[in-house]
Amino acid sequence: MGVFYLELYNLILVNMQIISTIQTLVTTIKGFKEYGLSIAFIPTMGNLHQGHLSLIEKAKTKAEKIVVSIFVNPTQFCAGEDFVNYPRTEQHDIALLLAHQVDVLFLPSTVEMYSSEAKTLVSVTGLADLHCGKTRKGHFDGVATVVCKLLNLVSPNIALFGEKDFQQLLVIKTMVRDLNIPIHIESVATVRESDGLAMSSRNSYLTTQERLIAPILFRALSQARDNIILGELTFSQIELQQRQILSEKGFLVEYFSICNANTLLAAKRCDNDVVILVAAKLGKTRLIDNIHFKINNLKVDSLR
Ligand code: PAJ
Repeated sequence: MGVFYLELYNLILVNMQIISTIQTLVTTIKGFKEYGLSIAFIPTMGNLHQGHLSLIEKAKTKAEKIVVSIFVNPTQFCAGEDFVNYPRTEQHDIALLLAHQVDVLFLPSTVEMYSSEAKTLVSVTGLADLHCGKTRKGHFDGVATVVCKLLNLVSPNIALFGEKDFQQLLVIKTMVRDLNIPIHIESVATVRESDGLAMSSRNSYLTTQERLIAPILFRALSQARDNIILGELTFSQIELQQRQILSEKGFLVEYFSICNANTLLAAKRCDNDVVILVAAKLGKTRLIDNIHFKINNLKVDSLR
């Protein structure tokens, strides 16, 4: 968006400040802090939907000022991925943020975010190489680095992230812990369509036919969870069963893994905080989803 339009927006829409430079952002945040106002921050890549809006609504119950960023971060896309085609719907997003009474929208350019001299990369070793990290090399380094930069710039009291991207959430929580970033990370439950499909900006890539098949992903997760609770099959059998079902329905399964929710390593039968993670391609669209649950007090003798 041109500077002229940004200024016009700021003139007309006095109740949300749209900021494109780091300098103005830092000054604005300083102003909030001088008044003792608490700040909640929600980083996004735009193309906002109910999932993003649920983060904003939760943020409003936690802090006095709400800052949202929209930045399609190039460093978290691998070669050949959808960076160029990623849905950019700025006007629509601005209208939604206004309707949800957001105080500040930070909308930087790539040049503003990344100096050509930048040499630092934040890497949450180990965790970033599992699951999505296996096929999306460097993806989580890109995410951790941009989120670290954004958290430094906004320095909120709290930042909110969706459980929809479970591995991302854990990468960020680990980074914040390890780097002693004094910000509370709050997670928000996944918002789904009425047929169970997790809302995602990438759902718009699905053809009409694929959109009908896509909810099977969440059904597979739910069925796997129910089977874990029933305790009749081993974890490996459940993983294999659901991979087969998904393949038969036309998914190209990248992983379907029953994991310890704290480490994301293969769950053991003594684990009680469990997450089942899935990534699968449907046509050209890569979908991820998960189901997180506790298996406390259950008979788990026969598992894995
Ligand atoms: P984006 O995909 O735009 O998501 C922004 C935030 O919204 C993330 O915390 C994500 O987990 C959450 N979110 C997305 N879909 C959701 C849903 N259906 N229910 C609940 N929350 C949902 O994730 C990113 O952007 C980027 O990687 C980012 C963290 C901004 C770094 O560039």
